[in-house]
This record gives sequence, C-alpha cells and structure tokens, in this order.
Amino acid sequence: MMDWTDRHCRYFMRLLSPSARLYTEMVTAAAIVHGDAERFLRFNEEEHPVALQLGGSEPDWMAQATARASEFGYDEININVGCPSDRVQSGRFGACLMAHPDVVADCFRAMRRETDVPVTVKTRIGIDDKDNYDFLQGFVDALAAAGCQKFIVHARIAILEGLSPKENRSVPPLNYERVYQLKQDFPDLTIDINGGLTSLEQVDTVLQHVDGAMIGRQAYHQPYFLAELERHFNPDQAVPSRQDVVDRMLPYVDRMIAEGVSLNSMTRHMLGLFAGRPGARAWRRYISEHAHREEAGSEVLVNALNAMPLAA
Ligand SMILES: Cc1cc2nc3c(=O)[nH]c(=O)nc-3n(C[C@H](O)[C@H](O)[C@H](O)COP(=O)(O)O)c2cc1C
Repeated sequence: MMDWTDRHCRYFMRLLSPSARLYTEMVTAAAIVHGDAERFLRFNEEEHPVALQLGGSEPDWMAQATARASEFGYDEININVGCPSDRVQSGRFGACLMAHPDVVADCFRAMRRETDVPVTVKTRIGIDDKDNYDFLQGFVDALAAAGCQKFIVHARIAILEGLSPKENRSVPPLNYERVYQLKQDFPDLTIDINGGLTSLEQVDTVLQHVDGAMIGRQAYHQPYFLAELERHFNPDQAVPSRQDVVDRMLPYVDRMIAEGVSLNSMTRHMLGLFAGRPGARAWRRYISEHAHREEAGSEVLVNALNAMPLAA
C-alpha cells in the first residue's frame, strides 16, 4: 500500500504470519528502469514469500523492471490494474488499463519472458460505467489467453473521475458475487478476492468461493489480525504473542538503526499492534511521542511496553 507499507512493515508482518504472501506497494516500472532500482527493490530475506507490484503500461519498461526484480529474488511479480489515482491515470496505468486488456496482455507477455516466477494481475471488478460482469470477464479472458493464471480482484469498481483514491476504496459498493462468478467461470485460474475483509468469519466465507483472500487496511491498522489468521488456518504453526513480536523486532531495529534507518520509519507500522487490547493507547502514545527523537533507539519499544498500564 503506497505511502504505508515498506520493507520494514513487511519484516514486522512476517513475524506475525509466517505463511501469508506479502505484497509490496506499487512501484512504477519507470522508477526501476530510470531511478535507483536498488532503493525500490531491495528487501529482507525474511519477507519471503513476497511479491513485487509493478505499475506501468509500457511493455518494454515492464519487462526491464521485471528482469531487475528477478535478480532480487521476488517470488511473484504483480501488475497493478487497480489504482485509480489521477497521477497514475496520466501515466496510463492502474485501473484505467481495465479498458485496455490488450495493453496489459502485451505487458504480461513481455514480463513473462524475463522471469520464471508467476506474473499476476491485481484488478477491480469494473471501471466507471463498465460496471458489469461481461466487462470483467472480457478482461480476464484476454489476460488468461496471454497465459496469466492468477488474479487478485478488488471487489468494487473504480470511478476514474470525481472520487479520490481513498473514496475509491469505500464509496463504490463491494460486490463479492461478481468475483465468485469469475471463479465459477474460470475454475482453472487462481482467483483471490480483496476488499473490506476484517474478520475471520468473513475470510472463511469468501474462501468457500475463491482461492485466496488479500487483506489490506485491516492488516495495517490491526496487524495482529494476521497472527489470528495464521492460527486459524495453520493451527500447528506457533504464533507469537504481541510482546514476543516486539521482542523479535528489537534486533532488527538495532541493525537497521546501525544502517542509518530512522526508528520512526519502523515503529510507525507497529502502532496498531495492541489495537483493541488493554494499554493500546499508552503503547501508541509512547511510541508517537518518543520514536521521532534523533537519539531514539529500540529501547523506545521496551519502554512503550512498560508504559502500558496492564500487561496485554
Ligand atoms: C494507503 C493505501 C495505499 C494503497 N496502495 C496500493 C498499491 O500500491 N497497490 C494496490 O494494488 N493497492 C493499493 N491499495 C489498495 C489495497 O491494496 C486494497 O485493494 C484496498 O484497500 C481494499 O482492500 P482492504 O479493504 O482489505 O483494505 C492501497 C490502499 C491504501 C489504503
């Protein structure tokens, strides 16, 4: 999730869920081809399995970016066909590409030539007035014909003009049925569903119809939800307590600080760790007040635990 997630966030989330597949925020192909590729592509080994999400519509650039990403060892390369922001549309990529399946298919083919790992697509169920199943089916059909076998579908349309990206994540209604229909009509494709999933019960329900569930905001705001999902789906997997997760972050935080990373850029992802638990507010407040200080180190996390009135 752009502006929210990064490699530090994924390191933290991996501690909570050993088996979830983690996705990067969208990185544009242009940034990799013409910018500091190392900065955009490096990640921690612990993040595996991890997918890189690319934004772009120029097959040559998408292919070059894929080739670079492959050198870094990503487990999947995902094409963004879901982002509605103006900035993204002016570059002609993101959700507006749903109207141009041929362009996405060209990108897909060019990318697949550069990598052995799966190239996948994240898309919406429609855009603007193209709010019907046939449109979605046509898009998926074109990509499947090009060889794409996995789709992650955000179960609401994107309105390309008039709504902010944030509104585009809540105003258009969710339509899970349309995604279920896709799985019925393309049983051999892997179809993952995304959008509005906040509880174990919901995830259980959607998984009766599709192959996977992608969790965005709930995983960020209430990261321990990932641990609960892990416990639910892999009962044999040892899931750490919240305090254990903090303890296991400490050596990472120390190492990163030694490399010049600011404490705040890591702890900002941890603010919601105790959400809904006693002491959550004290945890959040202590970190917010102390993590940005120049000399701040991992002791801030230890002190934040001690600042909580009750053991959580
Ligand atoms: C701050 C923010 C940034 C996002 N950035 C991306 C992105 O880079 N790529 C992407 O495919 N989706 C992005 N999304 C959309 C989410 O991946 C997801 O599709 C959407 O939030 C709906 O799922 P949720 O209800 O589980 O959050 C972003 C969402 C948020 C809140």
